[in-house]
Formats: sequence, structure tokens, C-alpha cells
Amino acid sequence: DWNMPDYISEAVEKIRAQVGGDEVILGLSGGVDSSVAAALIHRAIGDQLTCVFVDHGLLRLNEGQMVMDMFAKNLGVKVIRIDAEDQFMGHLAGVTDPEQKRKIIGREFVEVFQVESGKLVNAKWLAQGTIYPDVIESAGKGKKGQTIKSHHNVGGLPDTMKLKLLEPLRELFKDEVRKLGVALGLPHDMVYRHPFPGPGLGVRILGEVKKEYAELLRRADAIFIEELRNTPYEFVAGQAVNIEELPKNWYEATSQAFAVFLPVKSVGVMGDGRTYEYVVALRAVQTQDFMTAHWAHLPHALLGKVSNRIINEVRGINRVVYDISGKPPATIEWE
Ligand code: XMP
Repeated sequence: DWNMPDYISEAVEKIRAQVGGDEVILGLSGGVDSSVAAALIHRAIGDQLTCVFVDHGLLRLNEGQMVMDMFAKNLGVKVIRIDAEDQFMGHLAGVTDPEQKRKIIGREFVEVFQVESGKLVNAKWLAQGTIYPDVIESAGKGKKGQTIKSHHNVGGLPDTMKLKLLEPLRELFKDEVRKLGVALGLPHDMVYRHPFPGPGLGVRILGEVKKEYAELLRRADAIFIEELRNTPYEFVAGQAVNIEELPKNWYEATSQAFAVFLPVKSVGVMGDGRTYEYVVALRAVQTQDFMTAHWAHLPHALLGKVSNRIINEVRGINRVVYDISGKPPATIEWE
């Protein structure tokens, strides 16, 4: 049995004993794990912690501002936000191969993080939100003949940084990390968010990444997520959900849902005129482990509303399609 207040005070004591009076750096990504690690370490050592938040320009709508509000404003955590959008876009220009894009984003992330954390000359520790499944996964690396996709979480420890590692979530499973996050005062919606890949919208814009595409995608994606959250869940026979804990809305009823930008133009009509604009695909899946997944049987009324809203509100998109592929043979992401 897990007693949260006891767990927190033990974890806090352990961190204090480990780092003493040293300064600690943490790379904040906006994801659950690094956020919970930041909140826990901040609880333990306050201003000895500095977070570095690299905004690569491939985050979801208002996400950067949300991270700053949550940590800097509400929790009083020291956060340095680096706006690296131009740098990332510059390096991604002309690159269309998915693995190449992942490599570039991962490499630039480490580069920016290293430069910024190098300025914090007194830091002795690098904190990371490594959780138990990550420990298992990296222990198993090399056994598999090939990696199907490079699932590196950006922000791994560069060997050249002579910092000691602080990983206070190493023994926790995801559901425990979430409970801990809520107990530490992080907002429920943030802690229970769907997973978001490290390369962000970089792998949800097919082919070459452009600022213009990212802006359209962010808006379409935000509409989809808003409608999923606002539509009450109703059980549909054949849905892969846990009946004991019925979800409140379609966001909770899906494991991951997002929009994908297709750099393809198709013809449409608007008023008296013809349009020739881009396509957005909606993807929503249900899965236990993300290794296999079913496409979610979203209500047609929900899909219709999302489609209407995207086409009316996001100028530049005139067609919305729904992805009904399972994994396998498709993957959850499109790249
Ligand atoms: P796929 O597309 O392989 O995705 O079915 C399975 C899960 O992994 C996530 N994913 C990534 N996460 N970096 C990440 O941190 C990546 O490069 C990456 N690629 C896929 C995906 O969002 C899904 O949850």
C-alpha cells in the first residue's frame, strides 16, 4: 500500500541527503515525467533547482505559456525558457525523412540545453524524470535486432556534461508518477494528459517541417482536443475500455489523440469560390501499452463537429479525414 504523504516526505529527505547544498539543473519538456520530477525536487530543495525549458517551436497550442504559468508563476520554480524555434526550423528546413528529423531535433535539443546549462556554472547535478519503465527499456536495448523508430526522449544526458544524475522517479510506474504529481499540486488535466512525443509536432507534420504548417496544425489539434474533452463519453459496444472506471469524456476514453498535418492540397468550395488547401488527419487510439492499438470509434457527431470547426476556423485547411488504421500494421504516429 502506497501512503502518499509518507512517500513524499521520504523522497524529499532522500533528495536533500543526496544533493546537500548543491545546485541542480533539470530539463523541463512540458511532459508529465519531467514536470513531476521538477515539482518533487523543488519541494525538496527549492531554489537550489533551476529548470531549463527548451521551446523548440513544435509544442502544442499555448503549451510553452502553460509550462511557464504552472512552474514559474504557480509553484515559484526557477525556470529559464529558451525560445529556440528559429534554430530548430532552420536545421529542419529541407529535411523530409522522419528518422532524420528525429535525429536533428534530438541533437539540437541537447545542444541548446548544453549551452544553457553550461551557463549555470555552480550546478553539480542533472535531474531527469526517468521512470521505471524507461529503466527497463534501456536495460533491454541492444537485444532487439533493430529499432523500428528511434524513440529517444530528447534531453538525454550528454556524456560531456560532468554532472551527477538525480533521478527521483526511477522506481515509479506511470500511474504512481501521476498520483505523485497531483499530490504535489500539479493540475489534474496536465498530469493525466495523453503522451506527447519528444520531437513534438515535428513528427506530426509529414515531410518538411515549416513554421506555417506548425501554426495550422496547432490550431487544428487544439480544436480536436477541446471537443474530445467537451464530449461526454458514452459506452459503445466493442470499445476497448476498462468498464470499472468509465471515462467522463472522449479525451479520457482515448489513450492518445491528435491531428496530423498532410502537406497535400485538395480542392474545396467556399461561398462562390474554389479553395485549394491542405488536409488534416485526425488520429485517436485506445491501447494499454502503445505496442498495439485500436482506432477509437469516436461518435460521428463529434467527428463532424471537429471537422466543421477546423475547416471554418483554420484558414488553410479545407479537408479533414479520420484515420481508421490499427497498430499493427500502422503505427500510432504517422512518422
Ligand atoms: P508509434 O507511432 O511507434 O508510437 O506507434 C508509440 C508511442 O510512442 C510515441 N512516440 C515517440 N515518443 N519520441 C517520443 O518521445 C519519439 O520519437 C516517438 N515516436 C513515437 C507515440 O506518441 C506513441 O505514444
